[in-house]
Amino acid sequence: MIGLFDSGSGGLSVLQAIRKRKPTADVVYFGDIKHAPYGTREASELVHLATGGLRTLRMFGAQEIVSACNTVSPHVLSHGAEGADVIEMTRPAARGMRHYAGGRVLLMATPATVKSRIYESAFGGMVILHQHPFVELAGAIEFGAHDDKIRDIVRTEFQKRWRQPLDYVFLGCTHYPFARHIIEEEARVAFGNVEILDPADSVAEETERRFDTAGSGSIYFRASQDSEHFRRRIRELFPEYEDTMKILV
Ligand code: DGL
Repeated sequence: MIGLFDSGSGGLSVLQAIRKRKPTADVVYFGDIKHAPYGTREASELVHLATGGLRTLRMFGAQEIVSACNTVSPHVLSHGAEGADVIEMTRPAARGMRHYAGGRVLLMATPATVKSRIYESAFGGMVILHQHPFVELAGAIEFGAHDDKIRDIVRTEFQKRWRQPLDYVFLGCTHYPFARHIIEEEARVAFGNVEILDPADSVAEETERRFDTAGSGSIYFRASQDSEHFRRRIRELFPEYEDTMKILV
């Protein structure tokens, strides 16, 4: 069974991409809602949370793990958790980015991801990278902020880079695909004709290539705290599995 980990519901965007490629994959998904959002936390806390998340998934029977959270990637990579049985976001993202080599890319990510400079090393000069931290966006999406509020956050941050010449806007947080339509509209206003890039399919492709996806297509949801918005997101995307949800105590 494959385990998926995120601070909350963001990793569901990666689960969607995996299911699209491999509907037969058996998955246990853990959302650490109790500690969300991760992106404004210190590196030392993130090490602890990432280790705990991976341990929780193994406890639930995951033999292979997709760490569907960009914010913990530096800790998954640097603490040796990335073995043959762990896939994180940034390396598959970099493989996908080869198609856009030489492009001008705006990385949208959490403050912790930007601070870690993980995407600078992952992309390694392949693209012209501009990094922009979004302090509130992942939390707003996680806890069900109204679209107007999400638009306001995106617009305010994009205005700080008004008319910057760009080719691509890269979604460096797994929560952001849930606000993709807003990001796309606001990016067009601020930067003109840019393309939105989501690494979820590159991660799914790597999952398909490296992990055992030949199961019966079951999904089990686990969370460290109950959340109506998390449940709603599951209901929208994976309605037949909502009843599998268990809250850890
Ligand atoms: N979805 C996560 C990421 O990809 C974490 C966002 C957060 O909890 O701040 O970075």
